[in-house]
Amino acid sequence: MITIVCSTNRNDALSYQISLLYQQVLADLGAESEILNLNDLPADFAFSALYENSGKNEQFNTFSTHMSQAQKYVFIVPEYNGSFPGVLKTFIDGLEYPNTFKNKKCALVGLSSGVQGGGLALSHLTDIFNYCGMNVLALKPKLARIEAHIDGDFQITNNLYMQLLKEQAEKFIEF
Ligand SMILES: Cc1cc2nc3c(=O)[nH]c(=O)nc-3n(C[C@H](O)[C@H](O)[C@H](O)COP(=O)(O)O)c2cc1C
Repeated sequence: MITIVCSTNRNDALSYQISLLYQQVLADLGAESEILNLNDLPADFAFSALYENSGKNEQFNTFSTHMSQAQKYVFIVPEYNGSFPGVLKTFIDGLEYPNTFKNKKCALVGLSSGVQGGGLALSHLTDIFNYCGMNVLALKPKLARIEAHIDGDFQITNNLYMQLLKEQAEKFIEF
């Protein structure tokens, strides 16, 4: 079972649509997955579930347990201010350390309105996950100018983007 993390809590996020699409790509390859959407986090988790409040927020605990039990993750990461969303770092800071990510595996997908496709965001995140002991798949698709490459049904219209996602999913299943 692969956990797909929609790495923003923004309402109507394109990242969630890409998460759904990635789930379909995995399903087409015969791999089961579930989506964990940061939009479903309790709104006050930064103040009710971290540090001295660790373990006290039941709703957050279900996220934390899910992340602890999972072995493989795909993070769908929008570019916010040249990096990944702050809510993702706050989420990571609330998870059990040092075991949540140790010796586990993940794949990263970046998306952005601009031309970078979250390249820096994925580099920043790779540093953090490596620090936490997690192996990051080398192939990291960067979906730049995403709005120009997605249609009204949230399907990707750019052949190269689809090819990269499929190639990544195939490699990740073997990873
Ligand atoms: C707070 C915020 C900061 C953003 N910063 C950038 C940025 O630095 N570069 C960029 O290309 N797009 C930026 N965007 C646009 C997002 O990268 C774009 O909407 C993304 O592909 C999908 O984000 P979503 O999942 O929130 O819809 C930003 C969006 C938000 C909400």
